[in-house]
Amino acid sequence: MERISLEENNRIIDIQKLDFEETAEKSLRPTLWEEYIGQEKIKKNLKIFIQASKKRSECLDHILFFGPPGLGKTTLSHIIANEMSTNIKVTAAPMIEKAGDLAAIMTNLNDGDILFIDEIHRLSPAIEEILYPAMEDFRLDIIIGSGPAAQTVKIDLPKFTLIGATTRAGMLSNPLRDRFGMNFRMQFYEIQELALIAQKASLKLNKPLEETASKEIAKRSRGTPRITLRLLRRVRDFAEVAEENTINLKTTQYALNELGVNEFGFDELDLRYLNILAESKSKPIGLNTIAAAMSEDEGTIEDVIEPYLLANGYLERTAKGRVATHKTYELLNIKINPNGLV
Ligand SMILES: Nc1ncnc2c1ncn2[C@@H]1O[C@H](COP(=O)(O)OP(=O)(O)OP(=O)(O)O)[C@@H](O)[C@H]1O
Ligand SMILES: [Mg+2]
Repeated sequence: MERISLEENNRIIDIQKLDFEETAEKSLRPTLWEEYIGQEKIKKNLKIFIQASKKRSECLDHILFFGPPGLGKTTLSHIIANEMSTNIKVTAAPMIEKAGDLAAIMTNLNDGDILFIDEIHRLSPAIEEILYPAMEDFRLDIIIGSGPAAQTVKIDLPKFTLIGATTRAGMLSNPLRDRFGMNFRMQFYEIQELALIAQKASLKLNKPLEETASKEIAKRSRGTPRITLRLLRRVRDFAEVAEENTINLKTTQYALNELGVNEFGFDELDLRYLNILAESKSKPIGLNTIAAAMSEDEGTIEDVIEPYLLANGYLERTAKGRVATHKTYELLNIKINPNGLV
């Protein structure tokens, strides 16, 4: 399958947000519960916690969201702020380099505010240390000076809610994880949910989708709303050029094929990954070997490629490494017999 990329070298089904998409995503980002499709269990729990803390006039306990990119962690955090009628300050761990950076952000918060830290697994240990008393006692312990003259200065902070988001729960230190009162793992979305997201977004874009067309986009979205919305925007371009008022199945299939997304939502990168697994037969293969064979970094493979394959049974992770499954061989049209590969 040829990999066609309209956006230079970016994967059309890349789950990570591309820089130029910031505005497009913001305009389609739900701000109310009713618009946030799926993740029913998380929504149900959050609604209860929000109601309870409002009743007590307290601020919400700290929340951690984890799961692959594009599943709606940032969106959910904004909805929470909206529901709590509070401000949300958004930052990301790589932007907090020094203790002073964090101190400046936190001392500028107001009572009840939400502080959203994206990629929270990337905080340095020194910054984490400062975060602990801030999360527990709303207090900053800052050390001024060094050596015998060093002094700890305690600063009281307003009561705030920290919302942390991470794609790598495993990389979060235990003490930090323990300080979150609520911990939510985001799930990949069902096809019907993604179809509904596509439907609603297409109305906002003034280019309604036929039902079959929204299903088709959903099927190829790797369980990820970010991909649904991206595919929708591209399909809409094709419909626009063809001067169609509603987007039909035929145009959708044509557009998606042109974009190099197959009927399972896999593109050339996934297929390369699966071929490497299949070639090693049933022998487990290490992440570093796969990364070297693909010339991709391990983080990208773990964050971007593997979660969806794993969740859908195209890959098994064992202590010794990754192995292909029956589904992998089936997808790649490789025949197997009970004694191994033919
Ligand atoms: N449940 C949902 N219903 C409708 N739209 C959604 C939902 N979840 C996400 N989206 C849409 O998908 C896009 C990506 O979501 P978001 O930015 O919240 O993902 P994320 O989990 O924060 O990703 P990252 O890990 O890359 O930061 C948003 O623009 C939003 O409009
Ligand atoms: Mg985000």
